Amino acid sequence: MHFHSVYIVAAVASAAWAAPTNSFYNNAYDFTPELEEFYSRVSDYINNGNFRQQNSQTCDPSSVSLPALASGLPAPTGALKYVAIGRGTQNYTCSDSTKDTTPAAIGALASLYDASCIAANYPDLLETATNVVLNYDLSTVDTDAPLPPANAELLGHHYFEGTSNAVFNLDTTSEDQFGIAISKKNASMDAPAGSVPGQNNSGDGAVPWLYLNTITGTVGNYTHVYRVNTAGGAAPSTCEGQSSAFQVQYSAQYFFYVSN
Ligand SMILES: *[C@@H]1O[C@H](CO)[C@@H](O)[C@H](O)[C@H]1NC(C)=O
Ligand SMILES: *[C@@H]1O[C@H](CO)[C@@H](O)[C@H](O)[C@H]1NC(C)=O
Ligand SMILES: *[C@@H]1O[C@H](CO)[C@@H](O)[C@H](O)[C@H]1NC(C)=O
Ligand SMILES: *[C@@H]1O[C@H](CO)[C@@H](O)[C@H](O)[C@H]1NC(C)=O
Repeated sequence: MHFHSVYIVAAVASAAWAAPTNSFYNNAYDFTPELEEFYSRVSDYINNGNFRQQNSQTCDPSSVSLPALASGLPAPTGALKYVAIGRGTQNYTCSDSTKDTTPAAIGALASLYDASCIAANYPDLLETATNVVLNYDLSTVDTDAPLPPANAELLGHHYFEGTSNAVFNLDTTSEDQFGIAISKKNASMDAPAGSVPGQNNSGDGAVPWLYLNTITGTVGNYTHVYRVNTAGGAAPSTCEGQSSAFQVQYSAQYFFYVSN
């Protein structure tokens, strides 16, 4: 019975990988197929002797590559600085609630969690974790706390200035001042077939993968940002039955590149 090994793994790994103990996340730990897959992969790493404690401050992401499917976007230049899991909402408006009107994207609001070490050491876990976190109920969660199931630390906040300037503010405390990437979309591609379409595996689809270039106002040497491995976030195809403003839950990975 597979849950047996899941619970052993949770106990062994609890120092580095949150087991279902945090009351904020009790609902999120109703065992979803995504969470089961996550712990099954952790179990494989432990069985193979390849599981280590994570410390995002001492991890070198320079060997990490974008997902192969991101080849549909311009290739990165410079050096990868951070990989973050983003979790929040994509925001839309509808000028009326008929099927003849299409939702307009007006921005997003998300918390960013440092997943650089997970990306460097356990890329398959990163992908699964990104899907797991989509099912969290944000209204019950302290979004500044480390994000289970991989206990990724808060890295920053993603929001918009106007409808086209995507901001990634990585200054979170007086000590953690990692700069601010202000960016505009340069290229996009449809999320690959099989991407998670929304919470509970139902919804209107995963938002596109993006290549964003930084603009004036950026602090630090950030040059471009990719949004990949998206889950959820897409609007319904028409405004039929929608309110004038609405949010769609999403998660994604953001890759931050800097000039050398
Ligand atoms: C997006 O919606 C969130 C609520 O989920 C809101 O706090 C935020 O200000 C909105 N951002 C934009 C650009 O509309
Ligand atoms: C898009 O990105 C490419 C590669 O970085 C760059 O050469 C081009 O000028 C950009 N185009 C716009 C409109 O920003
Ligand atoms: C997902 O499933 C849970 C448990 O069945 C339910 O409580 C929740 O409302 C569902 N969420 C969505 C967005 O469908
Ligand atoms: C940006 O790059 C320059 C040289 O290319 C370097 O001197 C500087 O320290 C870098 N700044 C940051 C914030 O990394």
